[in-house]
Amino acid sequence: MLPSQDKPQLPLPAPDARAASEALTDAIRAEIAAHGWISFADYMRMALYTPGLGYYAGGAAKFGQGGDFVTAPELSPLFGACVAATLAPVLQALDRGEVLEFGAGTGQLAAQVLAELERLDCLPRRYLIVDVSAELAARQRATLAALVPHLLDRVQWLDRLPQRFAGCILGNEVLDAIPCDLVYRDSAGALFERGVVWKDGFHWEDRLLAPGPLLSLASALELPPDYLTEIQPQMHGFVHSVADMLERGIALFVDYGFPASEYYHAQRNRGTLMAHYRHHSLNDPFFLPGLSDLTCHVDFSAVYSAADACGLQLEGYVSQAQYLLDAGLPERLAALPQAQYLSAASATHKLTSPAEMGELFKAIAFSRNLALPSLLPGFRAADDSYRL
Ligand SMILES: C[S@@+](CC[C@H](N)C(=O)[O-])C[C@H]1O[C@@H](n2cnc3c(N)ncnc32)[C@H](O)[C@@H]1O
Repeated sequence: MLPSQDKPQLPLPAPDARAASEALTDAIRAEIAAHGWISFADYMRMALYTPGLGYYAGGAAKFGQGGDFVTAPELSPLFGACVAATLAPVLQALDRGEVLEFGAGTGQLAAQVLAELERLDCLPRRYLIVDVSAELAARQRATLAALVPHLLDRVQWLDRLPQRFAGCILGNEVLDAIPCDLVYRDSAGALFERGVVWKDGFHWEDRLLAPGPLLSLASALELPPDYLTEIQPQMHGFVHSVADMLERGIALFVDYGFPASEYYHAQRNRGTLMAHYRHHSLNDPFFLPGLSDLTCHVDFSAVYSAADACGLQLEGYVSQAQYLLDAGLPERLAALPQAQYLSAASATHKLTSPAEMGELFKAIAFSRNLALPSLLPGFRAADDSYRL
């Protein structure tokens, strides 16, 4: 699909990228033809994860200046050092346990965490990576080989989750990449699922919500009339698999989002679904399938409920700014040599400023079978759990 006229400034993709996007469009179109209509979660799953063509499974640059967006570990290694500070006491308590990172992106966070844990003399026995993208796994290996070559033999990529796990589970900006469903409540109060059809292009089509998990979740939210929003039923399944394997240790997630009271606020009546293409945020999720990232914000109340239902204990919920400040970001910044200070200070500002990532992003941690003598670094100075 060509960029439309209201996006005149967007850089055009290279011919091979455009061809890949057209092949993915054909594949999604065939899926629609087979069923007449597909849910938005199915569209998003195919757009992001179709092997070889999906945004995360294909060759798009994705991360960093040459890609479509920048994540915290891409901004500064101080982010990973702070994460390592949270993990260290847990690994010590478990006599070195393991780390399992979901969706490791370019591998920067893994490299930063391993480097800092080594400095703290607290290396995990293994650092496991679970990623749905084979292309990214190859990039992660290259990053780790370049940044921490002597630690590469501790890193393993898994095709499936371990049945039992003791240690620290980690995911930065993974929850927002889990496909979401779209739900619309009309002015008369009826609930619809907004799906995708093909009519010379992708178009929306609403269907009355049938009884099932999505209807139960949507009904419980008591949405205002004429209200469009996202719900992530698959996130519940993801949290269940995390909880099922976690015998002892913590699970730490950092992502952008809100508690339900803010997420489903009457004024947010067109949801949070967004596409990212070359550092532009677009409202059109059908723009260049496979070349644009698709995300929705995370409902942290739903994450908490899913984890609580599986018997995980909440360790803390704070803004990213609160998290990083308590996990030692200012001290780490101050200790940097002068040559690194300016760029690190600028990254610190981005990571913590309320106008940038500081307030929108949150950190949430859960534990199981862990009795630590003190609260986890990152969650000692503040606690916003009452908002969940
Ligand atoms: C926005 S990127 C974040 C990457 C990285 N954590 C960072 O902060 O730079 C989302 C990542 O999550 C991965 N992902 C999405 N769903 C996943 C799942 N269910 N299991 C493992 N990885 C997943 C994607 O392949 C991608 O690497």
